[in-house]
Amino acid sequence: MIRVEGLTKRYPRTVAVDDISFTVNKGEIVGFLGPNGAGKTTTMRVLTCFLPPTEGMAEVAGYDVVKQPMEVKRRIGYLPETPPLYPEMEVREYLQFVGRLKGMSGTALASRIQEVAKRCHVDDVMPKLISKLSKGYRQRVGLAQAIIHNPDVLILDEPTSGLDPKQILETRDLIKELAGEHTIILSTHILPEVEQTCQKVLIINKGRLVATDTVENLTSRLRGSDAVGVEVSGAGAAEVEGALNGVAGVAVVKSAGTKNGRARFEVESRPGEQIRPEIARAVVQAGWQLHELHSLSFSLEEIFLQLTSSDAAAAGSTQAAEKGEAQ
Ligand SMILES: Nc1ncnc2c1ncn2[C@@H]1O[C@H](COP(=O)(O)OP(=O)(O)O)[C@@H](O)[C@H]1O
Ligand SMILES: [Mg+2]
Repeated sequence: MIRVEGLTKRYPRTVAVDDISFTVNKGEIVGFLGPNGAGKTTTMRVLTCFLPPTEGMAEVAGYDVVKQPMEVKRRIGYLPETPPLYPEMEVREYLQFVGRLKGMSGTALASRIQEVAKRCHVDDVMPKLISKLSKGYRQRVGLAQAIIHNPDVLILDEPTSGLDPKQILETRDLIKELAGEHTIILSTHILPEVEQTCQKVLIINKGRLVATDTVENLTSRLRGSDAVGVEVSGAGAAEVEGALNGVAGVAVVKSAGTKNGRARFEVESRPGEQIRPEIARAVVQAGWQLHELHSLSFSLEEIFLQLTSSDAAAAGSTQAAEKGEAQ
């Protein structure tokens, strides 16, 4: 649905986007994750035909953003970082205005307005002035204008920034609801956002794509092994540690202290080994009690730091990401 190849955008003083390539398949929700200044907005502005690329190409539904901008715009709904709202307009009036800009009119437009108002949960504020709306409602009106022409693709630039926690949850739910019908790219600099909303993540840093993958794959690729937290009672910590070291497939056992008479450990497997069943068996066979056996997964934050903290790591994972994307 979206194809970007070697996309580069240079400003006089900055390379905002530096040779990035990725694809987004129909129906996917993709998170575009990166710190402020990484190049997210610039990429989105190229995809929505607001900015021409310096080099490379971008295609939406098979149409080139430079050569066929009208076709692209017809298929894209865009929610910029600051929604393009007119405070002096009423919500209904504003949606009519946007719909007309998109070439809609008459009863078709009226019924579509009703539909999107319902979808975006703004039907109860239709006669209100936009200036009187809360930030959460404004964001939903922004989403309503983005989908009014029923585009295949939605491009949402930091859709939850500046909202309070309740509004963030509502907006996320709304985005997930919209996902069934639209292909979505949303940008964020907030890590849990991607984990909770997206299937795939594109990590961008200083204009370069440092990883493209599912959240789960990113985690396992970086770790390459299984890590578990273990809590045991019934024996001294040293004795338990010795037993854990003897379990097949275990590479490292780190003591994490003792709490409420339970010895705690972080155990890492050799690459590719599943150690949880063996650990459980060893503890039980020794006659001890197993209180905890849980996965210690990387948070997206740790992944992000690993990927962006060294250029070597970034280069390696870009190659891996491109391989993963090649199919
Ligand atoms: N119109 C512009 N002129 C010059 N530099 C710009 C312009 N817009 C963005 N930049 C620069 O490009 C880089 C990427 O910005 P942006 O795409 O807005 O990042 P993000 O959305 O990830 O925060 C930043 O260094 C920013 O300062
Ligand atoms: Mg931005």
